[in-house]
Amino acid sequence: MPNAPSTPADLDRWLADHDVANLEALNEFLRIPSVSASSERNADTARAAAWLNGALARIGFSSKVMKTPGHPVVLAEWRKAPAGSPTVLVYGHYDVQPPEPLELWTSPPFEPTVRDGKLFARGAVDDKGQLWVHVMALAAHLGARGTLPMNVIVVAEGEEEVGSANLAPFIEENAKKLRCDYIVISDSAMFAPGIPSILSSLRGLAYFEILVKGPAADLHSGMYGGAVVNPATALSRIIATLHDSNGRVAIRGFYERVKPFPAAVLKGMKKLPHSDARFKKEIGVRALGGETGKTTLEKLWTRPTCDVNGLLSGYTGEGAKTVLPSSAMAKVSFRLVPNQDPDVVERLLRSHVQKVTPPGVTATVHALHGGRPWRADLDGLLYDAARRALRAAFGKDPVVVGEGGSIPVVGDFERILGAPVLLVGFGLPGENAHAPDEWISLDNVRRGARAMATLWDEVATRKG
Ligand code: BES
Ligand code: MN
Ligand code: MN
Repeated sequence: MPNAPSTPADLDRWLADHDVANLEALNEFLRIPSVSASSERNADTARAAAWLNGALARIGFSSKVMKTPGHPVVLAEWRKAPAGSPTVLVYGHYDVQPPEPLELWTSPPFEPTVRDGKLFARGAVDDKGQLWVHVMALAAHLGARGTLPMNVIVVAEGEEEVGSANLAPFIEENAKKLRCDYIVISDSAMFAPGIPSILSSLRGLAYFEILVKGPAADLHSGMYGGAVVNPATALSRIIATLHDSNGRVAIRGFYERVKPFPAAVLKGMKKLPHSDARFKKEIGVRALGGETGKTTLEKLWTRPTCDVNGLLSGYTGEGAKTVLPSSAMAKVSFRLVPNQDPDVVERLLRSHVQKVTPPGVTATVHALHGGRPWRADLDGLLYDAARRALRAAFGKDPVVVGEGGSIPVVGDFERILGAPVLLVGFGLPGENAHAPDEWISLDNVRRGARAMATLWDEVATRKG
């Protein structure tokens, strides 16, 4: 990359001078157990919104906590840039996943602790720590220079981990106020330590509960078993029809809308230093699965999937109980790729389940939530600026990566506001997002803040 810039010295100095205070503030944020899925945590979730609101106000933003039918949105604005300056929107989420199982944490989830350069806490990487990277970068501009080179809007929601049901309506309602030229999000990971990464795609999601009902009540499996269809067995049969023997999803029409990835993206993917052996070791398996004939990164980033996320039926307590359960339930979700549509997948699944349900039981499909897949257009000013800023802060050219996870609102932002989205993450493989011992690398927090502070200079000076 020719004449890559270095990170601006005044911003670097401000970040270095405020390093201790900035990390202490992040710790405060992480101590608030804003678990959006648990209603008994609603007061804490509201407290996290209020805390973030205060932090944004303190660095010079005009910030407010806005009600939604669910958890509030923190909306902060700084609009004092010279006329003609671009406007950027930074999105993140202040809610976190439930911390359970608590006994598997080395240090308690809401008592942030540093070990070996890693900051451990629920939300450290997903997404409070990454959101904080942006707040620090903005604070550096305002602290070191008293100004920002562009207008900035920060939108932080409290419902990402439960499906963001209220965010698209919020964006629609506030579309005028949220009008912007660029959207930047840090809620993902780098390919490997020291390798800054730009995200080229996210998978979508279609999440369902399948309920199979048989006899009106549980039965004695000796008195009735053999003559009555067992809902647990019936549900297992239904689940077994979801894949064929090549690991493909066996629902008719499922692949119809799948659009191939651009050849350049696939080619770049093949060059990334991925090792199946290391991957297997990391997750503790002997063999991998999925579609035959595809590489692991292809499977994870470019192909749609179906997974059983949970199963419930019959007796699961200690010892044996001879029972024929009256019902069985499965949580089943699909990861989607462009141009699949969660509503279409719902229709296809419903008719598939009706077709394969054995007589003697009924099966109902209940849709829980969905989100569209997303693919980046990797050209343009924003991406050029990001490549330069990442290069400056990490001393290496960024790689382009895909992502198997979902951030359903990314597509909504792009569609409603008509601005390109840049996803640049500072997590790392093994970060334990959604799991015990979640962590973020402190080096990434610091470099991330320098990179994002640099990004704003790069975007502003290159406008037009
Ligand atoms: N930050 C993640 C999405 C993500 C995961 C991005 C891994 C990059 C790497 C986000 O908070 C998340 O967990 N999304 C959920 C979807 C949501 C609807 C619950 C997911 O992907 O399961
Ligand atoms: Mn997240
Ligand atoms: Mn998450």
